[in-house]
Amino acid sequence: MLNDFRHIEKMTSQINHKKEVDLLLIFSNLIINKDEPIYIQIERHITAGINSGELKKNSKLPSTREVSKYLNISRNSVISAYEDLESRGIIVTKRGIGTFISIESENESYEYNVDFIQRINHYGDTLRELDIIKSELPYKKGIISFKSISPESHLFNLDDFKRSLLDAWTFEEANLLNYGYAKGYKPLIDYFFDYMKQKRVDTKNKDILITNGFTEAFDIIISSLTNEGDVILCEEPTHNTALKIMKAYGLQVVQVKIDKEGLDLKSLEESLGKYNPKFGYLIPSYNNPTGIVTKTERRKEIYKLFRKYSVPIIEDGFNEELLYSSSPIDPIASLCGKGNGVIYIGSLSKILFPGLRIGWILGDEKLIDVLESVKRGRNINSSFLDQSAFYYYLKSGAFNRYVKNVRKYYRDKYNLVIDMVKKHIPYEHITGEGGLHIFIQLKDNIDARQLLDLCYKDNVLFMPGDIFYENTKNDIDIQKLNNSDTEFIQDNETLRKNSNMGKITKYIEENKNSLKGKDTFRIGFGRVSNDDIKNGIEIIGKNINLLVRK
Ligand SMILES: Cc1ncc(COP(=O)(O)O)c(C=O)c1O
Repeated sequence: MLNDFRHIEKMTSQINHKKEVDLLLIFSNLIINKDEPIYIQIERHITAGINSGELKKNSKLPSTREVSKYLNISRNSVISAYEDLESRGIIVTKRGIGTFISIESENESYEYNVDFIQRINHYGDTLRELDIIKSELPYKKGIISFKSISPESHLFNLDDFKRSLLDAWTFEEANLLNYGYAKGYKPLIDYFFDYMKQKRVDTKNKDILITNGFTEAFDIIISSLTNEGDVILCEEPTHNTALKIMKAYGLQVVQVKIDKEGLDLKSLEESLGKYNPKFGYLIPSYNNPTGIVTKTERRKEIYKLFRKYSVPIIEDGFNEELLYSSSPIDPIASLCGKGNGVIYIGSLSKILFPGLRIGWILGDEKLIDVLESVKRGRNINSSFLDQSAFYYYLKSGAFNRYVKNVRKYYRDKYNLVIDMVKKHIPYEHITGEGGLHIFIQLKDNIDARQLLDLCYKDNVLFMPGDIFYENTKNDIDIQKLNNSDTEFIQDNETLRKNSNMGKITKYIEENKNSLKGKDTFRIGFGRVSNDDIKNGIEIIGKNINLLVRK
């Protein structure tokens, strides 16, 4: 018993000794010189420790006895230094507890400014200038907004998702909070493989990479497979975010005319022959902004043309699930069998949980291997917690129930929008046969931006159509693009020169009367109540009458 007690006493004294040794470390680099009183050197050493941030407020100092032993100096010198520092309010001694620092260190700072805006490169410039969230009229409380094409969040079946989160937690536990795999959560990858097989896509020799939605998928593909100056063919009009990304990487975007069925085959063949494009970027289902669904026969013709000119396709398969009127149409990717000429990007963002930011790329397995490394290089992996919860949600069958339900909800809204537009808006064309939006070309060249300005005063907002057209070509001159086969492709210097901040915005402003798509606009209705749809479209119609009468 006595032995035990002694043992504990010895250990305690060893621990206390260790603590003192740690505290003494602050003096380990103090070399006492003979030319100055020692207490002054100790004081200066402590204040320097405070200023450098090494000694924080409330940190403990070693006892005067330990310091004198450690530095081999008289204890009185240390006592004088501590007393002086205490009288200046720098340290405080608490009887029976010890001596502590009582002030915050003063942060030394030397002001230094850089004009970062001058240093922004072409990539940053372009994304900033084409950031429509910042440049377009903003949402205001109480406004009727047809601007967005996001899904209605109150339709999300939250209880089902809560259960999926719990399932994910139960099966995977803390693993979900650790680093995951760049390629994605394996069960979700397998789920998407089956999902693609149901769309009759041959997945042999192909692989899947999970991404943060379509947007990251597209960015990863574009940044890994194109070089500045390359030409990409796409529909006219097309998804604004894709346009923005292509412009930011310095690509030449060539838009190909469409008709009510999708890409116009004659124009497509001409462009394929003329521009030697690196890729085609296509949205065959519910093109954003037109809402056009390209039917199977046209898809085949389009695919065959790309194949004939050996140009790969990036297929954007978003929104496929929302078709109301006809039976599902297989993606273009299903046409290429075991071939690898189509890279398919999937995203359920416009149907379900866009906030989860989950999308996928299905493509050639060797390509996916490279893209996986690119993904890892950028952000290591997408959230495993989200992917796992999403997987259990999809697997539970909740998704199928949900889609059935929302299809009816959106179809009713779509029918109402079409009725109202036909009643109030003088249109040249209305397109859109599902999804969450329609696209209108106004009669008689009515300017959609002038219309928007009037409507905004009446608290109605929509998306002007010109943002979906390549309207930002500034000095990379359009003539050159039209007349030459290769010259412009090398012209990267012009591109760089044009990357000065403000140029794109200036160009758009100067050319606002001749912008492509200036008589068009998109109506997104997924989140607009039926009453607001009725009122909002009536207000748009009333303002068109005002413009026409002017
Ligand atoms: C054409 C198109 N593709 C894909 C998406 C989905 O993008 P994400 O998955 O990054 O939300 C959108 C969203 O608006 C879109 O318009």
